Amino acid sequence: MMIILAVESSCDESSVALVKDGKEVLSHVVLSQMDIHAIYGGVVPEIASRNHVVHMTRVFEQALKEAHMTPKEIDLVAVTRGPGLIGSLLVGINAATAFAFAHGKPLLGVNHLHGHIYAAGLDHELKFPALALLISGGHTELIYMKEHMSFELLGTTLDDAVGEAYDKVARTLGLEYPGGPILDKLALLGSDTYHLPRPYLDKTAFNFSFSGLKSAVINIVHNSAQRNEKIRVEDMCASFQASVLDVIIEKTKLASEKYLVKQVIVAGGVAANQGLRKRIYEEIKDQEIIFPKMAYCTDNAAMIGAAAYYQYLKKGALKNYLLGGESTLGIEDER
Ligand code: KG4
Ligand code: ZN
Repeated sequence: MMIILAVESSCDESSVALVKDGKEVLSHVVLSQMDIHAIYGGVVPEIASRNHVVHMTRVFEQALKEAHMTPKEIDLVAVTRGPGLIGSLLVGINAATAFAFAHGKPLLGVNHLHGHIYAAGLDHELKFPALALLISGGHTELIYMKEHMSFELLGTTLDDAVGEAYDKVARTLGLEYPGGPILDKLALLGSDTYHLPRPYLDKTAFNFSFSGLKSAVINIVHNSAQRNEKIRVEDMCASFQASVLDVIIEKTKLASEKYLVKQVIVAGGVAANQGLRKRIYEEIKDQEIIFPKMAYCTDNAAMIGAAAYYQYLKKGALKNYLLGGESTLGIEDER
């Protein structure tokens, strides 16, 4: 049995979780700074790292308390080592390193994207080879996984990430930050009447591009404003969502067929999208498709604890993190 204390602080969520054997979440505390950043319409890195400093110790204490555990019972400490906002990451890394050092525990640095994918493994058995569709505020990737902890990038975005496009379009439409979930809700009330472009790029390839689609929405909104015409917000949300989902689902389907995978894992903040969840099952019928639970789609430490377990099984952890050696948390970015 292995109990992992996992820490996540790559963006604006301070989170600590205790996870048993990569599967069972014993406790899961997330302190979101969403309300603070909403005032600015986006995450302000300096404010995010300062708030992590203020709250991180309390989040550690709460996670241990909720799991009824003492530091003694922890076998391994895991922490997001990137990608993310550097100031925010440093707070989590320093807190995890200090905790591991103080209690004599091994330490493991985990790639944030691996965490998003392994969030699905908390509630499902992962089957390989698998295809992971990772869609978040910072990433849009199709990844082939031959086995546990093996990541081959098939395609990625050439410009904006999907979540970023959602948030920017939402802002153009005057919706609150973060706009993705609000846009998703409004899309349900409208219909696809604006006929936006479908950015397939090369239909047989797996790269994405959403900035042109975003610009198409911005142009329509600006032209309407000049003509004093009102935008049908629900219809625009439905139109944008239809275009994004057409492209994402088509490419995912193609990749799953080409690589003969046993499972499609959809992960990252945008995996919370209701429209996507509904349509993908209808359109990719002969594949097993799994999603993380809603609470584990957006940034959280439970997913880091899940990924850390399989990473530890494969590669072990650092025991000499303060004694020099190659690197504290592993600098190579093995996706
Ligand atoms: O994974 P995440 O919490 O942070 C990153 O690592 O980026 O993802 C946050 C992103 C935001 O852009 C947010 O607008 C988007 O996920 N998002 C959604 C939905 N829920 C969150 N986008 C579309 N539909 C949703 N329901
Ligand atoms: Zn994330």
